[in-house]
Amino acid sequence: MNRHDIALIGFGGVNRALAQIILDRGDDLATDLGFVLRVVAITDLRLGSLMQADGIDLAHVFAMTDGETFAGMSGGAAEPQNEYVIRNTTADIVVEATFTNPIDGEPGISHVRAALESGKSVTTTNKGPVALGGVELNRLAAANGVTFQYEGSVVSGTPILRFASETLTGLQINAVEGILNGTSNYVLGQMESGMTLDAAVAEAQALGYAEADPTADIEGSDVQLKVVILANEILGANLTTADVSRRGISELSATDIVEAAAQGKRYKLIGSAFRNAAGGVTAKVEPMALPLTHPLASISGPTNAVSFDTDLLGTVTVSGPGAGRVETAYALLSDIIAIDAHQRAQAEVSS
Ligand code: HSE
Repeated sequence: MNRHDIALIGFGGVNRALAQIILDRGDDLATDLGFVLRVVAITDLRLGSLMQADGIDLAHVFAMTDGETFAGMSGGAAEPQNEYVIRNTTADIVVEATFTNPIDGEPGISHVRAALESGKSVTTTNKGPVALGGVELNRLAAANGVTFQYEGSVVSGTPILRFASETLTGLQINAVEGILNGTSNYVLGQMESGMTLDAAVAEAQALGYAEADPTADIEGSDVQLKVVILANEILGANLTTADVSRRGISELSATDIVEAAAQGKRYKLIGSAFRNAAGGVTAKVEPMALPLTHPLASISGPTNAVSFDTDLLGTVTVSGPGAGRVETAYALLSDIIAIDAHQRAQAEVSS
């Protein structure tokens, strides 16, 4: 049976959840998908790095005690050595799940670049490399005959990007708008029920929805990165974050939310991008008081939703989880499945 060896760069909540899926469901997945998944490298800020070409015993890694590092294990070291591991691992797929840096995308961009340059396909949930380096990294992937996949960079495991590129084919998409941040949607709902912003943010952090720095959720910069990705991927734009105007939910008070409710409206943080009359794409992030009849007004909790405005079909809306460790790990799995399909297609062409 075909096999993919994978390297996990960053071993926080999302890559841990992926490792757990592989441990618990690897055999079933192999039967369903026709390939085996084996983890051959892990790097992590706290645990260090581990490379074992014959496959890492994930149960052993999960049983590590607090403060233990990979240093004592064969192929292990106390330092993460991310780029060294990416270039030298025997893995054919690198899973990049380090933190999102909204300023320059680093170190994520360097990780993805190192993997693609050394002939490995990459999946990432990290918005930084996709929003700030997507064009260059896609070119690099093509030049090296490998694949760069990033479904989880927008709306977690809910397949928005693949839905647009593979299912809405044949349609002209004129605009995309959505609820793209689970934390702020959750917080707005809790504030509507009388909770303070700070208490609701703390809950969202505990539930694993919020970014390491939740300001990115509350001030709209997380959505700004996602809007750049949607505009570039779906509308063929070439935007950077500077092209996307941004206002977050931090500017809303409890009174604004209660007053909107009294008028039959509900505040949502909306990220949008649309084709403008000049032939370009206009994109923005802003809190909007939507009438309750609007398709996005009823999306509650950490759920996200994206509406596509199309020429032949009108508006099509997809909703689903937009955050969460397991949900985002599923995005990585869906990317690995796409990479496998791409590799098989390439093998058929060259045979
Ligand atoms: N912090 C993000 C959210 C996670 O709340 O939606 C997914 O990007």
